Amino acid sequence: MAVLPIVTHPNPILREKTKEITDPKDPEIKELIFDMIETLEKSEQAVGLAAPQVGKNVSLCIIQFEGKTYILINPKIKSKSWSKEIFEEGCLSFPGKFIPVKRSRRVKIEALDRNGNKIVLKADGFLARVFQHEIDHLNGILYIDKEVKIKKKK
Ligand code: CO
Repeated sequence: MAVLPIVTHPNPILREKTKEITDPKDPEIKELIFDMIETLEKSEQAVGLAAPQVGKNVSLCIIQFEGKTYILINPKIKSKSWSKEIFEEGCLSFPGKFIPVKRSRRVKIEALDRNGNKIVLKADGFLARVFQHEIDHLNGILYIDKEVKIKKKK
């Protein structure tokens, strides 16, 4: 296992659409999963890490929230609520940058787990937000694209 260096903005890899993983049990993928978990745990504040953030152009992200580790391979958002909310987000690829982002309150996602089994997850609130942020990374979309510009009152 190894802690991987984090790719930061404006590295172009963060803008690439990732490739689907055809074999989740491939030893290289298994190693990447272990390394990404270790990298995420080292980062303390962060709850999510997507493969492009460690320079790998594959559809994989890791989320750790409330003591649970989610390993999402080829994740897709299947549905999301119309209801949205604005909340401040950060990103490991933008050290120290916290901005308000509008996202759906609830999402349903589909992915493969580390054994290649299909999983369906529903989330709301903060976890739904993290799923959306990380899946965006896999499509080359960054949270700065969705920043809500709040007008300052005079
Ligand atoms: Co991010």
